[in-house]
Amino acid sequence: MSVQVLRDGTLRAVALLYALCSACGEANPSPIGDAESAAGAQAVDPPSADPGKAEDTDASDEPAEKVSGPDTGGTAPTVTEAPSETSTEMPTEAPSVLDRTQWPAYPEVVFPPENPYGEDKAVLGKLLFWDEQLSSNDTVACGTCHRPAAGGSDPRPAEPGYMGHPGADGLRGTEDDPKGSPGIAACMEVPDGAPMPLMDEVFNDGPRVGRRRSMTVLDAMFWNSMFWDGRVDDVLRDPITNEVIIPKGAALEAQALAPVVNTAEMACEGRQWDMAARKIAAARPLALASELPADLLEAQQSVATYSELFEKVFGDAEVTPVRVAMAIATYERTLVANQTPWDLWHAGDDDAMSEQEKRGFDLFVVKGACSCCHSLPLFGLPALVDDGFHEISWDGGGAEMGMDRPGNYTDPTFRTVTVRNAGLREAAGLLHDGLAPGHTLDDLMAAYNEEPVRDVHMCRRALELTDQELEDLVAFSRNALTDPRAKSEQAPFDRPRLASEGPQP
Ligand code: HEC
Ligand code: HEC
Repeated sequence: MSVQVLRDGTLRAVALLYALCSACGEANPSPIGDAESAAGAQAVDPPSADPGKAEDTDASDEPAEKVSGPDTGGTAPTVTEAPSETSTEMPTEAPSVLDRTQWPAYPEVVFPPENPYGEDKAVLGKLLFWDEQLSSNDTVACGTCHRPAAGGSDPRPAEPGYMGHPGADGLRGTEDDPKGSPGIAACMEVPDGAPMPLMDEVFNDGPRVGRRRSMTVLDAMFWNSMFWDGRVDDVLRDPITNEVIIPKGAALEAQALAPVVNTAEMACEGRQWDMAARKIAAARPLALASELPADLLEAQQSVATYSELFEKVFGDAEVTPVRVAMAIATYERTLVANQTPWDLWHAGDDDAMSEQEKRGFDLFVVKGACSCCHSLPLFGLPALVDDGFHEISWDGGGAEMGMDRPGNYTDPTFRTVTVRNAGLREAAGLLHDGLAPGHTLDDLMAAYNEEPVRDVHMCRRALELTDQELEDLVAFSRNALTDPRAKSEQAPFDRPRLASEGPQP
């Protein structure tokens, strides 16, 4: 099958990326085979709930065999070095990266048939997402840890006085602390009783902080598993009955069930979903927030409690975890950050990206081989070619490893997260822990430029980028993939002010 007949636009892009990335081709004799089998699977059966886990063909399982071929070392990939194995099937001259017609546009958002879009439902989800009353003690909303201006992640690790989870040295407030998100302070809750504070042995009476950085909720509707390690799949089960409610394409719904009963995020010890649902039903929407955007204000003023809004949206007033999850996911599917300079350029505006950003884009695809993993147009891997979980590998130290399993080198892989809006996230730290190898995109690109300490993936190798090229790559990653509406928190990224943010200065 040649690349032209791959029907799915994303797969075509993936195939082209492999064509452009000679490092991938040399290390993997049948890169198109991967795309092809994925395409075949796609034709009869959309990507499965647990993509690739069982049939992981990437190099992470057997890095040495696949990556250390005779001519992989040191030679930077170029457009003309297309691997001979595939050259009969690929266009002999790959088009210029700046030929925009080869790249698919930002995809359409798909709503699961069991949870179709509805405007009222999206507004309800937005209220719930920004409501600190969803936590046991009214202190933490989803939006506390996921803010558009911070690229959908958490800005607080960059704020003065931030205290994270203790790092490898066992101490808080030192350099090796992963940049986790402060959640709820330890507490105990019994059905229909007020939460009681507890003393936590690490965090005392302060917020508990996890060991992983908050991930972006922008553009998250395209991933079919959730979290850095993909531990939530795309099946929505009722947490009370365990019944399957949505069998496919519901990763956002499935994810939304977790924080509300997680004792490091929004829940006291002892909280069950039925307790949370009763609390929500009786609450006045966004009672604690201020500066509500017009859609939220209107919804708030139209009812006394959430149960009335649930009645409008779902037909009866019952507040269930499944309905909460469905509403939140519907809101999250509106967080479409598709007006980055790259998207505008792709739509035909030549001036949307600067000359430097265009050079950076070329480096992202060709010499930097970034798009081998961060595939276009989402700049993250939508789990089509392999499972999308990789190790970057720069120091072999504990920081980049699964912090839950210190010293465990068997699965130090994390999701290939999107680079979209990374420029808004870098202030509070990048990657799964916000830590290694440094805070900024400059630090990260310098690390990518170095030889990895272990052979981890066919696309991860020393890049030999010059200082100028590194600057260009950073300029592209920092600016050209940032949606200005997210940065300025304008619709669809507008939001109320949280009580925890204090009164407006
Ligand atoms: C205390 C901070 C905190 C709160 C509150 C919180 N999150 Fe998160 N969120 C995180 C962290 C940290 C991760 C990554 C966790 C991991 O990988 O283990 C995450 C991951 C996610 C992801 C996964 C994105 C992806 O690409 O896989 C989504 C979606 C998300 N959160 C939505 C929500 C929603 C919806 C709520 C409220 C119901 C919420 N979060 C509440 C911190 C938080
Ligand atoms: C081997 C696959 C692979 C390659 C090649 C690769 N990345 Fe990544 N990238 C990842 C993975 C996996 C993560 C998350 C790793 C982690 O959290 O430890 C990541 C994280 C990132 C992040 C952080 C985003 C955030 O929100 O924290 C940025 C930015 C990034 N990569 C840019 C690039 C650029 C630019 C290149 C090319 C120089 C590149 N990547 C090459 C797999 C890859």
